[in-house]
Amino acid sequence: MERVELPSGTDSMTMRPLRPAWLLLWPALLLTTPALAAPLKTEVIKRATRRGLAVAPLPPGPNVKWSHAPYEAGDCAICHERNDRANPGPISTSVNENCYSCHEEFKGIMARRFKHVPAVEACTNCHNPHNATERKLLSGEMVEMCVACHKGIKDQIANAKVRHDAVSTGEKCSNCHNPHAANIEKLLIQLPFDLCVKCHSRDGMIAGDGKPMTNFKAWLADNKVWHEPVKAKDCSACHRTHGGSNFRLLVAPYPPAFYAPYETKAYALCFGCHNDKVVSVPETTTLTGFRDGSRNLHYVHVHKERGRTCRACHEVHASKQAHHIREGVPYGPKGWMLKINYTRTPTGGSCAKTCHETKSYNNKTLTSSAPK
Ligand code: HEC
Ligand code: HEC
Ligand code: HEC
Ligand code: HEC
Ligand code: HEC
Ligand code: HEC
Ligand code: HEC
Ligand code: HEC
Ligand code: HEC
Repeated sequence: MERVELPSGTDSMTMRPLRPAWLLLWPALLLTTPALAAPLKTEVIKRATRRGLAVAPLPPGPNVKWSHAPYEAGDCAICHERNDRANPGPISTSVNENCYSCHEEFKGIMARRFKHVPAVEACTNCHNPHNATERKLLSGEMVEMCVACHKGIKDQIANAKVRHDAVSTGEKCSNCHNPHAANIEKLLIQLPFDLCVKCHSRDGMIAGDGKPMTNFKAWLADNKVWHEPVKAKDCSACHRTHGGSNFRLLVAPYPPAFYAPYETKAYALCFGCHNDKVVSVPETTTLTGFRDGSRNLHYVHVHKERGRTCRACHEVHASKQAHHIREGVPYGPKGWMLKINYTRTPTGGSCAKTCHETKSYNNKTLTSSAPK
């Protein structure tokens, strides 16, 4: 059994706190430690001070795009000792108390359960109190600013072979995080599942490789048999949010194509939770229900040079039938759906006139039943 390689930048010593209890419910299933239960805490620079970002008024010119109302009005004394532009003196109260005096709602925000350390320290860790070239008076471009301290995330983004536009477009990091404080762990503005599904619920979304993506809201509503980790609302059990090195941001390898030569490590994603012997041993009477007598039909289909990958038969997120068997697979350039016509029988199942002539399997006896 291959050990799943932990992607770099993760700490295997700590459990993901978001990991739900379901991982513990199927101990027999989990041969390895749940190595997929990865990302935890990446490196962060905990220097307790501003990172040398300018808080002095920016020189006038085309660069200054945004000016803070009280500064613009020339009311230096609201925050400083004197109303003298040339020599306003030091600020009169602590930075944050000063900000709260006008931005009262921030007292409430900063009372939330999870507080961002730099916001507790000083609002000026990220904001210029006078003026800025970035919106919201940010003292730098948001991603650059965040990853200046979050070195681990910086590495994840920089080294990502597969990028996630969610991180760099729109509200960038604040698509998912509140930079100040939140009631959800990891400063998330919503539970991860809700974040993912909220964005991934449009038709016509295109992945980095140009392939169309699923409308998850519609798909999850139409397909009631959810894969256990999806049921546990744990998209991060399989996907890396900030960018990754595997196909589809997966936390471990999974073959990108319909056919692939068999190698246990090519399926490290599935085998991080499932026993690889379901697929890799030719004969079994216990490990899989997909067998005819003792002939392992998983082995027959998957374990060869031009092996069918799991997607030939299984949906990974949610399906209409038991065992996450697909209704059909896209075929040809226009994505025509080839129906699989899988039917369960009391002693196994059958596939009708699809990839091959109708065939059935019997997993209740040890004698092989010939195809109908
Ligand atoms: C909304 C509050 C606010 C207003 C209004 C304001 N400042 Fe400041 N200013 C600050 C804060 C906060 C700092 C940073 C103090 C610190 O962190 O050490 C600062 C720092 C400065 C500094 C020192 C920068 C440095 O490098 O240490 C100068 C100079 C300055 N302000 C000038 C002005 C002038 C001139 C005005 C009026 C036109 C003004 N400020 C209005 C909040 C304000
Ligand atoms: C004297 C009142 C006052 C104080 C003190 C004050 N602000 Fe403001 N601030 C305003 C006003 C007025 C606006 C503009 C109206 C708005 O956008 O909410 C504003 C806008 C902002 C914005 C931009 C909002 C946007 O939509 O672009 C940020 C960020 C901000 N303030 C941060 C701070 C920080 C950080 C401090 C403490 C260093 C502070 N403010 C202190 C009155 C104040
Ligand atoms: C770690 C960086 C960081 C710190 C520290 C920080 N902010 Fe912000 N703040 C942001 C970012 C990023 C945004 C823009 C959020 C967005 O686009 O949704 C923002 C937005 C704001 C806004 C505009 C809100 C709005 O709805 O338009 C205000 C006001 C503000 N911050 C005040 C504060 C105050 C007060 C503090 C100190 C208690 C503070 N910030 C500390 C990063 C920070
Ligand atoms: C000045 C440095 C600094 C900046 C800038 C900064 N952070 Fe942080 N951040 C920290 C520190 C320190 C912690 C606390 C880490 C810890 O507890 O181990 C933290 C914690 C976090 C956490 C929670 C991590 C956890 O394990 O619970 C998230 C999420 C986060 N930051 C996101 C952001 C985002 C998004 C931005 C930009 C808007 C940002 N940070 C900017 C220093 C920074
Ligand atoms: C699409 C949503 C999304 C976006 C956008 C996003 N994050 Fe996260 N982030 C998450 C989720 C979900 C978690 C917690 C689960 C996990 O780690 O996968 C997390 C965890 C974190 C953590 C704590 C865990 C760790 O690795 O230390 C930090 C720090 C962090 N994010 C920083 C950032 C920064 C900085 C940005 C912008 C460059 C950003 N995030 C953009 C969703 C997002
Ligand atoms: C702010 C919107 C937004 C959020 C939130 C979001 N995504 Fe995405 N996601 C996108 C966009 C846009 C793309 C397509 C462009 C790209 O490849 O990055 C994408 C692409 C993807 C891809 C395909 C990447 C590829 O190119 O192969 C996966 C997988 C994915 N997202 C999973 C997730 C998961 C899991 C979450 C929740 C943690 C999530 N997304 C949250 C906007 C979002
Ligand atoms: C058990 C692992 C697993 C879980 C949990 C999981 N995914 Fe996936 N996801 C995959 C695999 C494997 C693929 C690639 C499917 C393929 O190409 O056949 C994928 C592909 C995707 C894609 C790109 C392709 C598409 O059809 O859109 C998106 C977006 C995505 N997942 C989002 C999510 C979201 C949102 C969640 C949580 C609701 C989630 N995933 C939970 C394994 C998982
Ligand atoms: C994070 C853990 C995890 C990952 C990764 C994962 N699964 Fe699962 N899967 C489960 C759990 C838990 C169950 C429910 C227990 C069971 O029925 O065996 C399950 C159930 C299934 C079932 C239905 C079993 C049945 O008889 O109803 C299939 C089929 C399946 N997974 C296929 C896959 C494939 C294919 C992959 C890789 C693309 C994969 N799984 C990745 C955890 C996972
Ligand atoms: C040719 C179709 C096909 C392919 C390809 C396939 N499966 Fe299956 N799988 C099935 C069928 C049919 C069942 C239901 C067996 C039954 O009747 O209980 C099943 C059941 C399962 C189960 C439930 C436990 C069991 O074995 O009965 C798991 C887990 C599973 N498959 C994982 C995988 C993984 C991982 C892959 C890819 C490496 C894969 N399957 C590829 C058809 C397939």
